[in-house]
Formats: sequence, structure tokens, C-alpha cells
Amino acid sequence: MAVGAPKVTFDPLHPTFGAECYGVDFSQPVTEEDVNSIRDGVAKFGVLVFRNAELDDARHVAFARQLGEIDSSTIFVMPGQKYRLAPFHELTDVGNIEPDGSIVEKGSLTYQIGQGNKLYHVDCSYNPRRVGLSILRAHKLPPKGTGGGTSFADTRTAYEDLDDDKKEKIKDYVLWHSIWHSRRLAAPDCEFLQYMVPEKNSMARHKLVQLHELSNRMNMYIAAHAHHIDGWTKEKSEPVIEALLDHASQDKYTFRIDWENDGDFIIWVGNDKVLSQVNQTKEMTQDNTCVMHRACGGEFEGKYVRDMRRATLLDSSSTAWGLNPTDETSGMLSDVARALGVSQKV
Ligand code: OGA
Ligand code: MN
Repeated sequence: MAVGAPKVTFDPLHPTFGAECYGVDFSQPVTEEDVNSIRDGVAKFGVLVFRNAELDDARHVAFARQLGEIDSSTIFVMPGQKYRLAPFHELTDVGNIEPDGSIVEKGSLTYQIGQGNKLYHVDCSYNPRRVGLSILRAHKLPPKGTGGGTSFADTRTAYEDLDDDKKEKIKDYVLWHSIWHSRRLAAPDCEFLQYMVPEKNSMARHKLVQLHELSNRMNMYIAAHAHHIDGWTKEKSEPVIEALLDHASQDKYTFRIDWENDGDFIIWVGNDKVLSQVNQTKEMTQDNTCVMHRACGGEFEGKYVRDMRRATLLDSSSTAWGLNPTDETSGMLSDVARALGVSQKV
């Protein structure tokens, strides 16, 4: 390395956001200096991709702790069952594996509930305190060419590109977010979800237009979880929310990352370019407060393991709690427990 050259470097993936990050040694605790570079990188780019990080569960959790406070509000375990990723209750299981080790079958309840991940969203906007960074790690990927990519959308640029009239119109909108709203949209025939009526379960309120404090840029904090606009009916809100989501998920604001299998090469699909690399993507970090994401699904579903594990960090910006009471905890697990008639204890 040349003297004076920065140790941690970023290689942009898209004209407006996303970058690959090089130069961090994940084989030992990440140095404070590198943690700060990663923080700066994610604030600027919104999504960072790391290759060959080769984190295991313990180091994934340890690295996440270096970046912030871990949220575990999304981990649901049926009473009497063992959490698949135990003892790592800090990691959320976002893979396609049932508790008995079998692959989630297409059309099953788990499959249907997971369909909501295919809509553009941010993680946990439906919680009173939202999350900031998500660190998603590919533990085991399906065979190359069977899908399983993840797409990202740049909501800061999407906001900046709105015309002034539109910005004026939406500037004070407050959105009510519900996990059940996105889940029901994505799986309208799921019987269990018929019971999960957003209005009868937990929801959280966040301003739509807000400053992304880490980058000092304005952002549109929106997601498929957005159920209605404060003070508006659901019917009146729906087309407005849909139009904003459509705007932010146009091709020009998005790119897809194709995760690849051990030893295979990886293809990054950008907006208008395709980059090929020989390395394997192991982990990525994204800022939920300025980037949406979605799982792309694919042929692997029902056939091959896609074992993804996520550490999710609580947001600590001044708008982390939105307009929600700061003494409330996430209601999602109690919604599920209530619907199933069980008590939830991880
Ligand atoms: C998530 C998520 C997408 C994917 O972990 O929050 O939405 O591609 N994942 O698995
Ligand atoms: Mn997600």
C-alpha cells in the first residue's frame, strides 16, 4: 500500500449510492479507526458491500456491537422450540429454513409470511424506535443462477428529485407503519394474515420527510410498511403512498446485488452496468434510514437453502423514535403471540 493511502477504500456500485468496501481485516476485532471509516462510508453511500469478510455468528455479533446497540425485536420463537441460531439471539434468522431444518416450502405459512420481504422496505419502521443499520450476512447461498439477490433503493436521491410543489405538499406527512400491512399486501391469500389487521395491532408513526443526520441530506423515510398518512383514511392514503413508493423504486434509483455461492464469481447488477468479480459477497451493511431494500426471490425457493443472518442496530438519531412514545417496546411479537394464543419468550 502506498504511504498515506487510505486503508479502507470504497468502490461505488451505482451513480448515486452503494459501494464495495475494501481493506477491513475481519479476522480479528475491527480497529476503532476502521469502524469509524465504515461509519463514514455507510453514511455517505447508504449500502456497503464487503467481500470475503468470513464472519461467523460470534464475530458478526461482535462487529455489530462495535457499530451500535443491537435490536432483537424481530426474533420469534414458538414456546418449547429452540431458536435456530441459538445461542445467538442477537441475529435475526432471515433464511429459508424451518426450525426442523427443512427448506421452507413454497406456499407454506413461513413462505407466505416471508413474501413481504420482496416489497421495498426499511427494517423495523413499524417499531416505536426504528433501526438504523442492518448487517446482513450470507451464511450459505443457493447455487449460482437460482436467484436470491437483494435490491436497494436510494430514497435520498428520490426525494431530492421531486419537484418543489411535491416537496411542499408532502413536507408534513406523518406515516403510520405496520408490519402486517406489507405482509398482507404481499400475501393476500394467507389465512393467518387475514387475522393480522393493522388497525388492531401495533403500528408506529414516523415523519415522511426528514433529515438523514449522518449525511446531512434530506430523505424520504418510506417503506411497504406504510399503511396510512396521519389524519387521512386508508383509502385516501393508499394511492399517495403507492405513488411515492413507485417513484422511489424506479430503475434509476435502484440496483440489485446478486449474492453468489462459495468460490463462484459474483455479478453486481447496477442501474445500467454489470460488474463481474471473482470474489464472494459475505456480508453487507445498509442504512435503513436512507435506503430501502427488498429480497428478489428466485428459482431457489423451495429447493435450496439460502441461509441469511442479520444483525440489526437501533437508530440513535434524533428522529429514531419518530412520533412514538419513548417508553414503548416493539409490539410485533406480542401481536403474533396474541394471534397464536401463546406467550412469547425468547
Ligand atoms: C432483511 C431483508 C432481504 C434478503 O434481512 O431485512 O429484507 O435478500 N433481507 O434476504
Ligand atoms: Mn429487510
